[in-house]
Amino acid sequence: CGIVGYIGSEDTKEILLKGLEKLEYRGYDSAGIAVRNEEGVHIFKEKGRIADLRAVVDENVKSNAGIGHTRWATHGVPSRYNAHPHQNVTNRYTLVHNGVIENDEQLKREYLLDVPLQSDTDTEVIVQLIGLFSKDGLTTEEAFRKTLTLLKGSYALALLDKEDEKTIYVAKNKSPLLVGLGEDCNVVASDAMAMLQVTNQFVELMDKEMVLVTENSVTIKNENGETIERAPYTAELDAGDIEKGTYPHYMLKETDEQPFVIRKIMQAYQNDQGELAVDADIVNAVTEADRLYIVACGTSYHAGLVGKQYLEQMANIPVEVHVASEFVYNMPLLSKKPLFIFISQSGETADSRAVLVKVKELGYQALTITNVPGSTLSREADFTLLLHAGPEIAVASTKAYTAQIAVLSILADAAAKKGGIDTGFDLVHELGIVANAMEVLCDGKEEFEQIARDYLSTTRNCFFIGRSVDYYVGLEGALKLKEISYIQAEGFAGGELKHGTIALIEDGTPVIALATQESVNLNIRGNVKEVAARGANTCVISMKGLEQEGDRFVLPAVHELLAPLAAVVPFQLIAYYAALHRDCDVDKPRNLAKSVTVE
Ligand code: G6P
Repeated sequence: CGIVGYIGSEDTKEILLKGLEKLEYRGYDSAGIAVRNEEGVHIFKEKGRIADLRAVVDENVKSNAGIGHTRWATHGVPSRYNAHPHQNVTNRYTLVHNGVIENDEQLKREYLLDVPLQSDTDTEVIVQLIGLFSKDGLTTEEAFRKTLTLLKGSYALALLDKEDEKTIYVAKNKSPLLVGLGEDCNVVASDAMAMLQVTNQFVELMDKEMVLVTENSVTIKNENGETIERAPYTAELDAGDIEKGTYPHYMLKETDEQPFVIRKIMQAYQNDQGELAVDADIVNAVTEADRLYIVACGTSYHAGLVGKQYLEQMANIPVEVHVASEFVYNMPLLSKKPLFIFISQSGETADSRAVLVKVKELGYQALTITNVPGSTLSREADFTLLLHAGPEIAVASTKAYTAQIAVLSILADAAAKKGGIDTGFDLVHELGIVANAMEVLCDGKEEFEQIARDYLSTTRNCFFIGRSVDYYVGLEGALKLKEISYIQAEGFAGGELKHGTIALIEDGTPVIALATQESVNLNIRGNVKEVAARGANTCVISMKGLEQEGDRFVLPAVHELLAPLAAVVPFQLIAYYAALHRDCDVDKPRNLAKSVTVE
């Protein structure tokens, strides 16, 4: 979910709505705003997108203070009545919330048995408690603070009090939240992007802090109520980067940006001698570790699998890759000197952060590889490597995935050099070849549109097979396809298919096979024959030098280890066109959010 707030001299509605549009990547199953004026608090909310909310907002209501929310449902179905903002029973307090309150049922039983609840959300419990405690004679600040001490879980909160025209009350624990400093106004946002329209000066908030935001002041208080001074930072985002330009979808724009991103990464990581280099402290931490634990979710996890290959093959360091949501509750036996590497486009994913918090408690070092400087995972780790991919807006990740792989290759190369290992190739040169190959692929989109038409226009399911790193790229290809086209797609290790999954192959089942690795080229060809013999509609994508007659597409040649960077581009484009042909909402697929800030 994403939240915004504004208090100042301008009319609030449009600022909140524009802010929410920029936060739609955090969830978009319902949205709402509350604005306050001398008549009281007016609430507008609607199921669906911000565009749906816009349609129900009354143009005539003027206001100088308000809060807003775009939701990714956790408690209660996506609906108008579960949409935020929520109010307490007297309607004095109005609240928006991002996060999950874990003890909401217990709090209901303990405090709210006599209160008629109006939604199925955990959020309503918070606002009802504030209302309840204020009735006992506490000020709003005191009632808010008392409520916060009872909450278990994560929250970013913005609260309006009908009886206090001057203040928005804000609090944060585990969920991201910033306060922005404007001229004659101040703002609140889950992400700086939402309020760049007003200011680029932001103040970070720490867990358990509470903030009183007025038109001309921002007062941050810690858990004990002591005032904290904190200087703002300048958000280095370019508003132009977050526009779609002439592209029909962000996903297509971001796919096309990949060659540029690879070149940008090379620039960013080049030292004065023109060599790719990583900060010495980071390289030391990596080479001194006896085992690396890569922790990530979704697409970033898939990039981590490729990264394992690099760090093991190039730098000779053992690596384990884990899905964050499993790792946190089911930790493997750790080595004696582990280093944790978190990979996260957003730097905000709650599942990954939960692991980071645990790892820090245990006293281990952590490196975060992220696209967002200053994000929670970056701030809380010992080291950060940035992706330099520019804002990624489409829910389905494209350029962040390839940026993650490129940065991991640079890290592995630097670790190899430090360990005196000759990788046998010049990474600068090879990444340059990759960027050119990506450009060729992006220029030849029609090929992939046709593949999507030929193989995926009517199918219910699809398999991606590969061996070695091609298997990992297949996992990502399948994820892309299912995320945006809703075709049931699975990635499989070519050799494993025959141990069960091959039972699903029927006449015409599409099987997309990747063949970029010489050592397993013949094996994967064998697997293709196995499924073809059972009726599959096979589509082989191979790499120049390994191609065979009948291959549907041949990728330009790149270094074998870097093949995932080129090979994923067709998969991204095939998924894009499959979704387009099915009239799916490419950038905002159902049920998903780009940044999932709940565990
Ligand atoms: C969400 C997104 C995925 C993404 C995952 C991890 O589930 O829908 O596309 O891969 O989060 O996000 P992160 O920002 O940590 O890379």
